Amino acid sequence: MPHSEINRRIVLASRPKGAPGPQDFRLEEAAPPSADGQVLLRTLYLSLDPYMRAMMNEVPPVYSRSIALGEVMAGATVSRVVASGNKRFAPGDLVLGGAGWQELAVSDGKDLLALGKLEQPSRALGVLGMPSFTAYVGLLDIGQPKPGETVVVAAATGAVGAVVGQIAKLKDARVVGIAGGPEKCRYAVEQLGFDLCLDHREPDLGKRLAVACPQGIDVYFENVGGAVFDAVLPHLNVAARIPLCGIIANYNNEQLPPGPNRVPLLQSALLQKRIRMQGFIILDHYATRFEAFRRDMGEWVAAGKVKMREDVVDGLENAPAAFIGLLAGKNFGKLVIRVAGDTE
Ligand SMILES: NC(=O)c1ccc[n+]([C@@H]2O[C@H](COP(=O)([O-])OP(=O)(O)OC[C@H]3O[C@@H](n4cnc5c(N)ncnc54)[C@H](OP(=O)(O)O)[C@@H]3O)[C@@H](O)[C@H]2O)c1
Repeated sequence: MPHSEINRRIVLASRPKGAPGPQDFRLEEAAPPSADGQVLLRTLYLSLDPYMRAMMNEVPPVYSRSIALGEVMAGATVSRVVASGNKRFAPGDLVLGGAGWQELAVSDGKDLLALGKLEQPSRALGVLGMPSFTAYVGLLDIGQPKPGETVVVAAATGAVGAVVGQIAKLKDARVVGIAGGPEKCRYAVEQLGFDLCLDHREPDLGKRLAVACPQGIDVYFENVGGAVFDAVLPHLNVAARIPLCGIIANYNNEQLPPGPNRVPLLQSALLQKRIRMQGFIILDHYATRFEAFRRDMGEWVAAGKVKMREDVVDGLENAPAAFIGLLAGKNFGKLVIRVAGDTE
C-alpha cells in the first residue's frame, strides 16, 4: 500500500455564527503521523453527520465535547491499517474508527472495530452502523409501533429516517414520511416502501397530514423539529410516542426562534393526550443493544428488507461544502466522503 508524503486534514478554523460557511474550515497539509507502536490508518470513507454541528460550538453538547479551534474535525471513519504495532491489527485490515476529517491517523487501537471483509465498506457508517442503529433503538425501544398503527417520520430519506420507516413497515405499521422535495418523497414511497410521503417545503403540511393520517399519529419519530413538529403536534393520538432523536431545523440557531411561547401548547398536548416524548443519545445503547441490532439489521439488509441510499462525495476537500449542504437538506441519503480509493 503506498504511503502518503503528506496528510491532508480539515481543521475547525472558526466557530460558526448560525449556518457554517467555508471560512469555518481550513484544509491543511501536515507531515504523516508516525505509527510509533500504534496503528497507522488510511481513511477510505468519512461519515458526515448532523451531530458535528454542535461540536463546532464553544459550549459543547451535554453528551459530547467541543472541537478546539485548529483541531481536526471529528468524525467516524472506515480505514485500512497501513502499519501496526498493535497485535490486534495487521496491515490491510479494514477498521471502523474515529480518525476524523483527515487522510491518515494513528490510534492506540482501543477505538477501533475490525470489520473483516465488507463488500461495501461505507455501509459500516450507514445501514450497518450508527444512523441505522439509532433508528433501530429509537423506533423499537421508544416508539414501539404496533401492527396497524400510524408512524410518521421526518427527514424520511436520510440515514436515520429511511431505516425508521422500513423497520416500521416490517412491524406492519402504516408509514408516512416527511421529506424535502418531490424527488425524495417519490423515493420514499417507490424505493423504501412507505405508504405516503409529504413534502415539507409545500404549504399546508398540517392539513395534508390530517388527510394522510385519518386515524391520527401513534408514533412520531422526530429528526427535525421546527415547523414540521408544529404541523405534527395537533395530529398526535392519545398515548402517542415520540422518540426525540434530533432537531436539525434548530442546529444553526443562535437563539430561540421568535414568536409566542409555545411551551404551554406542547405541555397541554403531552398532558391531555398522555403522550410520551423521550430523548435519547445512541452512544448510551451500544453496550446493551448493538448485538441485537447487528443480528437483526444484518438479516434485514441481506434479505433486501432494509436498504439505505448513500450520497457519496469524492475528495476530502469537498467535505465542508457537503456538510454545509447536509444542514440545508442537500444530501439525498447517507452522506459519506470517499477520502481515498481502496487498493485492497
Ligand atoms: N440522538 C442520536 O443519538 C442521533 C444519532 C444520529 C442522528 N441523530 C439525529 O437524527 C437526525 C437525522 O440525522 P441523519 O444523519 O439521518 O441526517 P439526514 O437525514 O441524512 O440529513 C439531514 C436531513 O435533515 C433534513 N433537514 C435539514 N434541515 C431541515 C429543516 N430545517 N426542516 C426539515 N428538515 C430538515 C433534510 O432532509 P429533507 O430534505 O428531507 O428535509 C436533510 O437531508 C438529525 O437530527 C440528527 O441530529 C440523532
